[in-house]
Amino acid sequence: MSAPTPNPVVAPDHVLALLDRLHQESLTQEAALPSTYLASGGFDDLMRDKFIALDQDKSQFVYQLARATGARNIVEIGTSFGVSTIYLALAVGSNLDNLGGEGKVIATEKEHTKAEKARQYWQEAGNDLVTRHIDLREGDLLETLTKDIPQIDLILLDIWAPVALPALKLLEPKLRSGGVVILDNSISSATRYKELLEHLRSPKNGYTNLTLPYSKGLEMSVKL
Ligand SMILES: C[S@@+](CC[C@H](N)C(=O)[O-])C[C@H]1O[C@@H](n2cnc3c(N)ncnc32)[C@H](O)[C@@H]1O
Repeated sequence: MSAPTPNPVVAPDHVLALLDRLHQESLTQEAALPSTYLASGGFDDLMRDKFIALDQDKSQFVYQLARATGARNIVEIGTSFGVSTIYLALAVGSNLDNLGGEGKVIATEKEHTKAEKARQYWQEAGNDLVTRHIDLREGDLLETLTKDIPQIDLILLDIWAPVALPALKLLEPKLRSGGVVILDNSISSATRYKELLEHLRSPKNGYTNLTLPYSKGLEMSVKL
């Protein structure tokens, strides 16, 4: 029997158990979605009570990346019920403990009911470990991200396709040299993210790009 794969996330057992539980709930919901859901009308209504959480292996990768790069300021484009946010907050908290300085995870969610639920899960994880490292901006991110943005180390794009490129363009002036942009589903949704991928991969925009072979793809772009 092969050894279990290691989990890089440093957190108490109750937080690891919470993450396992939330990922499982998200997968159960997604399995019950109609196969045509991406093309269906009323998309926002359908998604209002759905996690659509970043896969657990991808979340662990993003955590590991944030730790490796000592990320202090991270912007999460698309928070939903706040699962990936927990990973980012744990990473930022550990980085601040080890490296000093200040930092936050700027989280974004337009649905009030989802933002409320995210806050509940963060409190379940713990204020010191998670909640205090998060600045949740409720509302349309194209409005909530127009001010008070620090220099950014990492951007996680896990969002409906039409808003992804406008969001990145809004944040680009604050993305530091060497900063990283992660885009979920860069293989399975390559058509829907066509303009965003063209932007990231155009030499004139100054990114190096790598498609990581996770299920459905995960694009990692580094701003030079
Ligand atoms: C794929 S989910 C994010 C999942 C989350 N990263 C996680 O791993 O738990 C995308 C979220 O973005 C939100 N969203 C979509 N358009 C938005 C906008 N313009 N402003 C803010 N949030 C938006 C949706 O309501 C949805 O909850």
